[in-house]
Amino acid sequence: MTLDWERWYREGVTYRQLDEPVLDDLLSTITDKRGDKIRTALDVGCGAGELAGQLSRRGIATTGIDGSTAAIVRAQANTAHITLEHRPTFLVADINDLANNPTVTRYDTIWNKLVIAFIEERQRFFRSLGAHMNEYGWCVTISPVLTDDNRELVTPKLKAISVDRKSLLTDLHQVFATTITWRLADMRDHGSLGIFVSGERRT
Ligand SMILES: C[S@@+](CC[C@H](N)C(=O)[O-])C[C@H]1O[C@@H](n2cnc3c(N)ncnc32)[C@H](O)[C@@H]1O
Repeated sequence: MTLDWERWYREGVTYRQLDEPVLDDLLSTITDKRGDKIRTALDVGCGAGELAGQLSRRGIATTGIDGSTAAIVRAQANTAHITLEHRPTFLVADINDLANNPTVTRYDTIWNKLVIAFIEERQRFFRSLGAHMNEYGWCVTISPVLTDDNRELVTPKLKAISVDRKSLLTDLHQVFATTITWRLADMRDHGSLGIFVSGERRT
């Protein structure tokens, strides 16, 4: 399938968003493990900016990056009502090339939602996210995951943005094997979405 994000975003494509209570629970889990307030977030492949908006409204200074200009135009429009102080910042950039982007600094949390299916070199990608995390930083990967019989995935659209749970876990563990402190700390399902929370505990 040729990926035509520009056209899809211009035509108004939308993706499943995290329910507010699920996000609140995730944030409190991370805050507990981190032992400190979450102050900053980077949302890679932010699309139309819904998650970035949810994080910003909770007082987390958030930057969203997406390769699609049409997505970022929508993200800016979708968050224009948020007070300037809490409004996310957005930029158009390739998330496979964060190291060469001087605007991308370090963050307490890095989020990738419905994005990992489009990343070819996943281990390299996770390592690059690790390089942009603060000490005691946390990475949240959210993706539809294929079960052995694909039963949970009823729509072709969902299947197109899915990854195999086992291979994703293998990639994550390969990355963790080369870092001293970064570990998978929480894994949960939210409908057909798998949520993988990895990071560095303070204790
Ligand atoms: C399925 S959408 C998910 C969007 C958003 N995270 C959400 O959950 O609504 C995947 C997004 O990843 C972005 N993307 C894919 N590969 C990318 C890359 N190499 N650099 C930047 N963005 C990319 C696409 O432009 C698209 O907005």
